[in-house]
Amino acid sequence: MAFFRSVSFSEPMPAITGAGVTLRAPQGSDHAEWAALREASRSFLTPWEPIWPADDLTRGAFRRRLKRYAEDQRNDLAYAFLIFRSDDNALVGGLTLANIRRGVAQAGSIGYWIGAPFARHGYMSAAMRALVPFGFRTLRLHRLEAACIPGNAASVRLLEKTGFTREGYARAYLCINGVWQDHLLYARLQDDPA
Ligand SMILES: CC(C)(COP(=O)(O)OP(=O)(O)OC[C@H]1O[C@@H](n2cnc3c(N)ncnc32)[C@H](O)[C@@H]1OP(=O)(O)O)[C@@H](O)C(=O)NCCC(=O)NCCS
Repeated sequence: MAFFRSVSFSEPMPAITGAGVTLRAPQGSDHAEWAALREASRSFLTPWEPIWPADDLTRGAFRRRLKRYAEDQRNDLAYAFLIFRSDDNALVGGLTLANIRRGVAQAGSIGYWIGAPFARHGYMSAAMRALVPFGFRTLRLHRLEAACIPGNAASVRLLEKTGFTREGYARAYLCINGVWQDHLLYARLQDDPA
């Protein structure tokens, strides 16, 4: 059930501007830069992500990924963004608001990654701060969730500094890097202080 929605995104979704970053939906022409950044960041990212399929970085897999994103967006299930540095339009990472539940939940889950060369420059903090109003105001969600492995110091710090509250601990919550791993559960509510 999709109610409380204020915008229809059957047209291309507008970009979101943050402090020094722009978020926009991925498109076919992003493939080369996306694949190069993911490859260069492989050892930095894989401990914290689901296992990458063998063909993950190929053009064909990217095309399928875009098709899935478009379908999810049409169905109000997920909204995927790439993050570009405003200065030079370099791709620095990605951010997805997924698993959207309407009805009495009005909630969604956020996932994110930054390319290794761009880590610790504040880009994900800026991107997260730009995504939050999109979730609450544009999509009219009530609750934004995120989960991370307890040992992921960067992710824990990111969530805590962008207004998420630790709510719980879920055992063997997600299969990350091939292993069912415990996660800390975080959420930010629409009326939480910024
Ligand atoms: C988590 C991640 C997205 C953070 O992106 P980022 O652009 O480096 O984050 P920011 O630069 O905005 O930093 C956010 C905070 O985390 C801190 N931080 C970043 N990397 C850190 C690290 N390795 N160890 C400790 N703190 C770290 C920053 O110092 C900052 O806190 P501060 O403002 O108090 O100094 C990035 O580290 C990443 O992609 N990691 C691998 C994949 C991953 O963990 N995905 C999420 C799975 S839940």
